[in-house]
Amino acid sequence: MIGIFDSGIGGLGTTSAIRKKAPHADIVYFGDLANMPYGPRPTEELFHLTLDAMMFLRAKGATEFVAACNSVSVSVITPITDVFGTSQTRIIEMVGPAARALARHTSEDHILVIATIATVRSGIYERAFQQQGLSVEMLAVPLLASAIEREVSSEEVQHIIAPAIQKAISIQAKTLVFGCTQFPFVREELLRSFSEREYKIDVFDPSDAVADEAVTMFDVSGSGTIHFYVSKSSNVFSQTVRELFGDTVQIECVNEISG
Ligand code: DGL
Repeated sequence: MIGIFDSGIGGLGTTSAIRKKAPHADIVYFGDLANMPYGPRPTEELFHLTLDAMMFLRAKGATEFVAACNSVSVSVITPITDVFGTSQTRIIEMVGPAARALARHTSEDHILVIATIATVRSGIYERAFQQQGLSVEMLAVPLLASAIEREVSSEEVQHIIAPAIQKAISIQAKTLVFGCTQFPFVREELLRSFSEREYKIDVFDPSDAVADEAVTMFDVSGSGTIHFYVSKSSNVFSQTVRELFGDTVQIECVNEISG
C-alpha cells in the first residue's frame, strides 16, 4: 500500500496523478491540517512531523511512501530514510523527480521555482537541478499555501502572487515550477496574470513526474482502495477530495497521530 502525506490538499493533486496512472494501487493519504502550514516551520520540526506522518501511515498499512510536500523533501532524503532503515523504506519526494523530468524537456536555464520558505531555505531545488545541469532561481511565496487551503478570493490570490509574476518577468523566466504542491490549485489565476501582461511562460507541476516514478518503483497492483485521514477537518479538503476522487470516498479525522 502506498502512503502519501502532505500538510493539506497539496498532495491530493499528486495522489490524483498517481491514481490516473495506477488505478489499482492501494493508497492511504494523510493531510496534516492541524499543523498546516508547514512552510514557515524550522527544519527540525518538519523532520518530526514527517516522521509522525510516516509512522501513522505505516500503522495504517503503508509500505511505500510519497512525501507529497516539497517543504519536507530535505527531511525525507537523508535523516528519515536512516530512521526507517534505508534498505526497507521506499520513499519518493517531489524535488528529485521534478528536476529529472524537467531536464528531459529543457536545456533552458530560465527557470523560476516558487515555493515555501522551508523549501527555499533548504536549497534543495538548486542542488537537484544542478545535478541535472540546470540552474534555477527561487522565490518564496509564503502566504499562498495557507490562502489556498482557506479558499480565499481570486483578488486575494492575485495580490499574493503579484511578486512571483514580477520576478518571473524580470528574470525573463521561460518555465515556472510549482515548488509547493498546493500551488497548482491556482494555476488558472497565475496563467491569467501572465496573459494580462502578455507574457508567455510554461508552468510545470512535478506531480506527473512523481507519479511516473511511483508507478515504476512501487507495487501498484492492488484493488484500488483509497483512504483519507486528516488531523483536523476542513471543508476545502473534503470538497477537493470529492472533486478528485468522487462522492463516496470517506475522510476520517484523527486527533492524535503519534504516541
Ligand atoms: N504542500 C507543501 C509543499 O509542497 C507545504 C505547504 C505548507 O503547508 O506550507 O511545500
